[in-house]
Amino acid sequence: MKSPALFEDMNVLVTGAGKGLGRAVVEALLDRRERFPRMRIALNARSESDLTGLADLARNSGVETLTLPMDLARDPVSIVESVRKSWGRIDILIHSAGVGRFGDFGTYTREDVEFVTRTNVEGTFLLLQETFNLMKVQEPRYGLRGQIQVITSVAAEKPFEHSAVYCMSKFAQRGLLEVMRIPAAKERIRILDVRSGAAFTPMWGPVDPGMQARMMKPSDVAGPMVDALLIDARATVETLTIRPIGGDI
Ligand SMILES: NC(=O)c1ccc[n+]([C@@H]2O[C@H](COP(=O)([O-])OP(=O)(O)OC[C@H]3O[C@@H](n4cnc5c(N)ncnc54)[C@H](OP(=O)(O)O)[C@@H]3O)[C@@H](O)[C@H]2O)c1
Repeated sequence: MKSPALFEDMNVLVTGAGKGLGRAVVEALLDRRERFPRMRIALNARSESDLTGLADLARNSGVETLTLPMDLARDPVSIVESVRKSWGRIDILIHSAGVGRFGDFGTYTREDVEFVTRTNVEGTFLLLQETFNLMKVQEPRYGLRGQIQVITSVAAEKPFEHSAVYCMSKFAQRGLLEVMRIPAAKERIRILDVRSGAAFTPMWGPVDPGMQARMMKPSDVAGPMVDALLIDARATVETLTIRPIGGDI
């Protein structure tokens, strides 16, 4: 069986769609919109102003959108519920919303730990649990009940000195995805762990030109993620590690 040429009527939810890698995934989906006729994209981030311009771009390309200016750290379940209420199902979840705090190990405060883990760990867990529970009762389409892609990091598999809380949260996301794959495989739900290396996004703050030249562009990560959605339903890409050609930063 060949991979279908067209994936029609896909409902996509992208968290962290306002900036950086999440935004690049939306742009990559729009670039490939001929493969996804009648695609609908729900855009989530906290800043509504970031979402409206992107929603306009999508609508101008003939793609229906929903903007969900909601905080993953406060109410992750409502993000999924909003899409279900509007469109009935989620075929593809791209989870890119994430935060970091960086510094010497001895200097982190309890607030730093709570800030990072509420979004990256607790928010991610509840978002993925709600999405999984919705997907598992959906009728399969193109041989799958759904596809979930989470941008973890190379920091989910290797230590970075000034990233104790961030690494902890990313290792936790990786652990969650590895456990989820067991029930997900039985339900024909794909789970992709995207281990991205350094890509130049607003998360990094100001970056000098020398370092920027060593980093990837968000589209370097987003393109292969969308391509992984398109492979035949008998197979699954489980881990996608993409890093700058010169190595980690
Ligand atoms: N850039 C890299 O080099 C890199 C490398 C490896 C992994 N990653 C991971 O990739 C993901 C995206 O990173 P990025 O570089 O694209 O970051 P970014 O440029 O800071 O963008 C993050 C996006 O997530 C949204 N967001 C953050 N917290 C949120 C929350 N609590 N609820 C809803 N939306 C939230 C932000 O919008 P608002 O602030 O408006 O909510 C923004 O739209 C993160 O999980 C990050 O850890 C990034």
